[in-house]
Amino acid sequence: MAYDPRDVIDRSRLPSPIAIDGPAASGKSTLGHALAEEFGYTFLDTGLMYRAFTLAALREGVLATDETACTLLAETVGMRVEAGETTVIFLDHEDVTEWLRSPEVEANVSAYSAIRGVREELVRKQREIACTGPVVLAGRDIGTVVLPDAPLKFYLVASEDARARRRAAQAGAWGVNQRTGDAHRDIAGRDTVDSSRAASPLRAASDAIVVDTTDMGLQDVVDLVLERVRCAAS
Ligand code: DC
Repeated sequence: MAYDPRDVIDRSRLPSPIAIDGPAASGKSTLGHALAEEFGYTFLDTGLMYRAFTLAALREGVLATDETACTLLAETVGMRVEAGETTVIFLDHEDVTEWLRSPEVEANVSAYSAIRGVREELVRKQREIACTGPVVLAGRDIGTVVLPDAPLKFYLVASEDARARRRAAQAGAWGVNQRTGDAHRDIAGRDTVDSSRAASPLRAASDAIVVDTTDMGLQDVVDLVLERVRCAAS
C-alpha cells in the first residue's frame, strides 16, 4: 500500500491553528497548500478575503476613501468562504475566485484592506473558520492579531527581487500576464502600504519562526515547515 503520511500522524496532535504571515509573494500559499495536502489541514488564504472585498467594493463603486461606506459594505456583503485544500470565495453565490488576481483587484487591495472596519469584519469571519478543526491561516496579521495564541507561527521573508521573480512566474499559472518589472513595482507598493498602515500592519509576531526564503527553493521551505509540524505533532 502507498505510504500516506496522514496515516502515521495522529491528527488530534496536529498543532492548530498554524499562522503563516509575510509580505506579498513570500511563499505563504505554497506552504498552506503543502500543509493541507500533507496532513489534511484546512487552508484559509485570508488575502483572498481582502481581494474578494475589494472586488465587491469596485463592483459597487464604493471608494476606499469612504471608510463608512466600506465598513457598511463589509458588514452586509454576501461573502461565503469555502476553505479546504484551497480557498474558494463566493459573492452572493457567485464563485469569484478566478477574478481575485485581476490587475484591478491587485492595484486596489492594499487600500481597502487598510480600513479598520473592513478588517474587523473579515477577522471575525477568519476566527470562526479557525475554530473548525486543524487549520492553517495565511496573511499579514494572523500571528499578531487574528490568532495571537496560535501554537505554531511562521513568518516568511524574501528579498523583493526573489519575490518579484516568483510572482511573475506564478502570474502565468493564474492566467495573468505580468512581467517581472511590473511584479516588482506592485510588490514594493503593496509592501509599503501593508507595513505602514495603522490597522494591523504587517509584522512578525515575537514568537514566530522567521524563515528567510530568498536563497531557498520553495520545496526547501515546504520541507522545513513540514518537519517542524511533524515534530510538534509527535
Ligand atoms: O496575500 P495576498 O497578496 O493575496 O494579499 C492581498 C492583500 O490583502 C495584501 O496586499 C494585504 C491584504 N491582507 C491583509 O491586509 N491582511 C491579511 N491577513 C491578508 C491580506
